[in-house]
Amino acid sequence: MEQDQRIIVGVYHLSKTFGRHFSLQDINLQVVNGEFVFLVGPSGAGKSTLLRMIYMDDVPSSGQVVVGPYISTKVKRRTIPDLRRRIGIVFQDFRLLEDKTVFENVALPLKVAGVGLGDVKHRVTDILMRVGLYHKRHDFPHELSGGEQQRVAIARAVSNQPSVLLADEPTGNLDPVVTRSILELLFKINAGGTAVLMATHDLDLVKSFGQRIIYLESGRVVKDKDMIYMGDLRDKLAGSKLSEKAERLSDHDITGDGGQRR
Ligand SMILES: Nc1ncnc2c1ncn2[C@@H]1O[C@H](COP(=O)(O)OP(=O)(O)O)[C@@H](O)[C@H]1O
Ligand SMILES: [Mg+2]
Repeated sequence: MEQDQRIIVGVYHLSKTFGRHFSLQDINLQVVNGEFVFLVGPSGAGKSTLLRMIYMDDVPSSGQVVVGPYISTKVKRRTIPDLRRRIGIVFQDFRLLEDKTVFENVALPLKVAGVGLGDVKHRVTDILMRVGLYHKRHDFPHELSGGEQQRVAIARAVSNQPSVLLADEPTGNLDPVVTRSILELLFKINAGGTAVLMATHDLDLVKSFGQRIIYLESGRVVKDKDMIYMGDLRDKLAGSKLSEKAERLSDHDITGDGGQRR
């Protein structure tokens, strides 16, 4: 498949501190159009904070985020809603509107964006069929299982046909079977051309899929498929013979399609 190599999400020398505590340190990463990327790291690594910077719910302490034409250091408060229309977001806890039906939840972002009623109906129907929940369109969130609620949340997130879908631990509240079906849905959405950046603490869950994995640890990117940021370790090894070997091993470790890791 021909892939559009334009960068849809660019993060450049991004740091974020809360008080005197370093939360994110000099993060650099790019996601191109149509790419699927897992952002993996233990709890507290900074995954949610990084995603929040990308959808510009918070501002970096230094560095910048670029999403399509929007640059975090230049974006105006009033243009944030435009930006949000190009980014879909899903969370661990679904965040559906409890007093609205499945249909209304998915329709809402379209209505807010000014889509006409006829088109709204057409598009919501189409999306609900795609996520397998058209038959539950009149149900309320509390009548659905966790997996179904997450499907609705995903449908809502992609209703505006965003260029990128951000998912913050979307399977964190779900059992393994449902988790797998949600991942498959995300892959399907990605196959339709939407870039996906999914944060998870669960390396075992995602490492077998062969997608790019960015590893975050203590607020730093420690490994990426394309680039290796070994940080302090690289500095310590620099000049020693170990250095070359360590880099070679690391390359195998992350570009090998699973066989090297086991
Ligand atoms: N609003 C905040 N105020 C203070 N510290 C925060 C805030 N948000 C996140 N942090 C800190 O930033 C670090 C990363 O948190 P987070 O991004 O939630 O990690 P993850 O999503 O990988 O579990 C943690 O040490 C957390 O305590
Ligand atoms: Mg988190």
